[in-house]
Amino acid sequence: MQAGTLYRNVVWYLKAKKEFTKDGYAAASKNFNPNDLEKVDIKNKSFMITGSNSGIGKAAAVEIAKKGGKVHMVCRSEERGRAAQQDVITESGSKEVIFHQLDMSLPRSIQRFAQTFLESGEKLDVLINNAGCMVNQRELTEDGLEKNFATNVLGTHVLTTSLMPLLQQSQQPRVITVSSGGMYVEGLDPDDLQMEKRAPFFDGTQSYAKNKRQQVVMTENYAKLYTSVHFSCMHPGWADTPAVQTSMPDFYKEHRWSLRTPQQGADTIVWLAISDAALQNKSGLFYQDRKAVSTHLPLAWTKYTPQVETKFMQKLSDFYDQFKNLPPSQISHQLKEFTLSCLHDQLGAVPGMMGN
Ligand SMILES: NC(=O)c1ccc[n+]([C@@H]2O[C@H](COP(=O)([O-])OP(=O)(O)OC[C@H]3O[C@@H](n4cnc5c(N)ncnc54)[C@H](OP(=O)(O)O)[C@@H]3O)[C@@H](O)[C@H]2O)c1
Repeated sequence: MQAGTLYRNVVWYLKAKKEFTKDGYAAASKNFNPNDLEKVDIKNKSFMITGSNSGIGKAAAVEIAKKGGKVHMVCRSEERGRAAQQDVITESGSKEVIFHQLDMSLPRSIQRFAQTFLESGEKLDVLINNAGCMVNQRELTEDGLEKNFATNVLGTHVLTTSLMPLLQQSQQPRVITVSSGGMYVEGLDPDDLQMEKRAPFFDGTQSYAKNKRQQVVMTENYAKLYTSVHFSCMHPGWADTPAVQTSMPDFYKEHRWSLRTPQQGADTIVWLAISDAALQNKSGLFYQDRKAVSTHLPLAWTKYTPQVETKFMQKLSDFYDQFKNLPPSQISHQLKEFTLSCLHDQLGAVPGMMGN
C-alpha cells in the first residue's frame, strides 16, 4: 500500500470510529433541534424510497408514514417488498403506503417504471435514493454492466433523471441520495466506471466506495442543473442492517456492538426529506448527522477537476440514452453500436486490432 493511501485510510478509520458509531450518533444528536421534525406537516406530500424493504430505507419509510406522508416503497423483490409494506403499515398506522416492484440495476426497467409513474397521475415531492449494494465478486447484469455500478450509480441516475419532470411540478421538491462515508477514501475516475482497469482483480469494497463518491458528484451536479429542486446526499453512519451483515461479515463481527440502529441511520434522511431547516442550506451538499460536512478528508488527494466531473456526468448521460426504451428494432441497432464501441475501446489499445 502506498504511503498516501495508508495515511488516508488511517485518518478515515479514526474519524469513523469516533463519528460513524452509535456513540458518534449520541454525541451528534445532543445538538439536534427536536422542533425540526416535530413541527412539520407532510400530510399532502408524497415520498418515494428505493430499497425500502429493509434496514435504513424501511426505517425512513416508517418515520415518514407515521408523520402522515404518502410513501411509495420501491423494492426489488415482490415477496420482501410486500411483507415490508405490511410492516410499515402496521408500525406507522398509515395506509398510505404503496408497493412498487423494481430492480434498480436494470436501466430500461427503471425508465419504464418512471414513465408509468409519470402517467399514473400520482404526485411526487421527495425522492429518496436509498437502494444500494456491495457485491464482492465482479458480476455483470443482463445489460453487461458491473452490478455495483448499475445499482448504486446508473440506477440512481436513471431514476432521478426520469422522474425530474414530475418532481419539478412539486412546490418544494427534494432528492436525497444515501451515499456513504466510505466515499472519503476514493476520488473520481470516469474512465473506469465498470472497474475493468484492474481485471481480473476485483475489490467489491473499493467498487462500492467509488460508487458512493460518484453519488456525491452527481448530487453536486444535479444541484447546478435543476435549480428548482433541493438535492442532498448523506452518510447514515455505520448501522446494523442486512447489507452490513452479509456484505461485510468480518467488519460486522468486529464492530457489531458499536453500530447504530437503522432508525439512527435513517434520522438524517428523514430530516433532509421533511424539515424546513434542511431547506435553509443550499442544494447539493453532503450531510452527516443533520450537518453539512466536507466531502474530502484533509490532505487526502481525492479531489478532481471540473473537467473530470463533466466527463463523468457526460458518461452517465450517454448511458441514459443508451438504455432508452426504444422499439426492439432500434434497441438491437443501439446494442450493436454499443458492443462495437466497447470492442473498439478494448481492442483499440492492442496493436493490429481495430485498425491500429
Ligand atoms: N448500514 C450502513 O452502515 C450503511 C453505511 C453507509 C451507507 N449505507 C447505505 O445505506 C443504504 C441502505 O442500506 P442498508 O444498510 O439499509 O442495507 P439493506 O437493509 O440491505 O438495504 C439495502 C436495500 O437496497 C435494496 N437493493 C439492493 N440492490 C437492489 C436492486 N438492484 N434493486 C432494488 N433494490 C435493491 C435491497 O433490496 P433487497 O432486500 O432485495 O436486497 C435493500 O432493500 C445503501 O445505499 C447503503 O449503501 C449503509
